[in-house]
Amino acid sequence: MSTSEKRALVTGGAGLIGSHVTDLLLCEGWKVRVLDNLEPNTHRRGKPAWINPAAEFIKGDVRNREAITAALDKIDVVFHQAAYGGYMPEIAKYVHVNSFGTAQILEVIREKSLPIRKVIVASSQAVYSEGAGECPKHGLVFPNVRLIEQLRLGDWEVHCPICAAVTKSTPTQESAPIGGETVYGLTKVDQERLVLLWGKQMGIPTVALRYSCTYGPRQSIFNPYTGVIAIFCTRLLNNLPPVLYEDGEQTRDFSFVEDIARANLLAVETDKLDGFPVNVGSGRGVTIREIARQISVALKIDIPPETNGEFRPGEMRHLTSDTTRIRAAGYEPHVDLAEGIARYLDWIRAQSDVRDYFSEAAAILRDKGIVHKVESALR
Ligand SMILES: NC(=O)c1ccc[n+]([C@@H]2O[C@H](COP(=O)([O-])OP(=O)(O)OC[C@H]3O[C@@H](n4cnc5c(N)ncnc54)[C@H](O)[C@@H]3O)[C@@H](O)[C@H]2O)c1
Ligand SMILES: [Zn+2]
Repeated sequence: MSTSEKRALVTGGAGLIGSHVTDLLLCEGWKVRVLDNLEPNTHRRGKPAWINPAAEFIKGDVRNREAITAALDKIDVVFHQAAYGGYMPEIAKYVHVNSFGTAQILEVIREKSLPIRKVIVASSQAVYSEGAGECPKHGLVFPNVRLIEQLRLGDWEVHCPICAAVTKSTPTQESAPIGGETVYGLTKVDQERLVLLWGKQMGIPTVALRYSCTYGPRQSIFNPYTGVIAIFCTRLLNNLPPVLYEDGEQTRDFSFVEDIARANLLAVETDKLDGFPVNVGSGRGVTIREIARQISVALKIDIPPETNGEFRPGEMRHLTSDTTRIRAAGYEPHVDLAEGIARYLDWIRAQSDVRDYFSEAAAILRDKGIVHKVESALR
């Protein structure tokens, strides 16, 4: 790629992943433009200091047609990271920012016949309803999301869709059915389907990267709805116990943010991923309880986590990414969980005023019916 072809637009470039993508691209000799509206839930103190001064910064909203038209001028590759995330009850806002915002970017490129060479969209493991499972009788199965009636009884297990036996979690491949069981998840499905479909129609290469749980320096300590590692750190630093939903034995696949940035760069450099949804993760599942333990040990703050019989309907029990596809294209995560947590803690210790925003948020989620309690805990 010649330097004249290395002009990137990073939407959401002030955020966790977008800012690291920006830094990496600049390091690799790209010219970078950032479009970010500095969403107040994420950036409570305004424009963050980490926005790389070598990037051109446009404060603008992906919902605004003029803003995106200006941002797309003289761009070769779009890294579409901007999204509204988490568990907030604002249904229309997710659809507006994530689904509509993405559709509009694609429409403007087509309308103006812009010479974009590739579009990479940030999708998520949240597109899966539940992680793949192994049934003792039926082998590999794709269980449905657990029903609220089951969760109310405190049964957290994932049952086989054919015989109802308890399944064992196994890595989920991209070919697993996708659906999205939260409004956020649904809009991530929209985003990736829109981008991949449009790419085929337009003959423009596109890649949808399905990130696993991503964490690292710059993860908003203000937005208590996302990022379990950030939430547990702020709880412990405020001498409060981390709160585990269900029994804390649910598993997730974690990625350090710099690895996710490298996956974005790889997705531009190779054509092996063009046209595909692609899992990006560590390929390893870790329980949420174990995450709480590791953070507590690293911080030397010994407050055991709390379980209150609470759960979030629609949440998957287990998700480990099958990373065969991206590894075959040359991806290898560099930062393991212990190092990643240590690096996040170094960063968070340097932040002033690490307040607990979780308590307030949890109350809202309870109030809005997004967090529920098991029946025995209600008695
Ligand atoms: N962090 C994760 O664990 C994770 C996992 C899977 C997928 N993703 C996806 O990765 C992308 C980046 O996530 P992140 O973790 O960096 O989140 P983040 O909240 O740190 O960053 C998102 C950025 O987008 C900006 N933004 C939000 N709404 C916007 C709008 N209407 N117009 C312009 N900018 C807007 C925000 O101000 C923020 O800077 C998102 O698409 C997210 O859905 C994240
Ligand atoms: Zn079965």
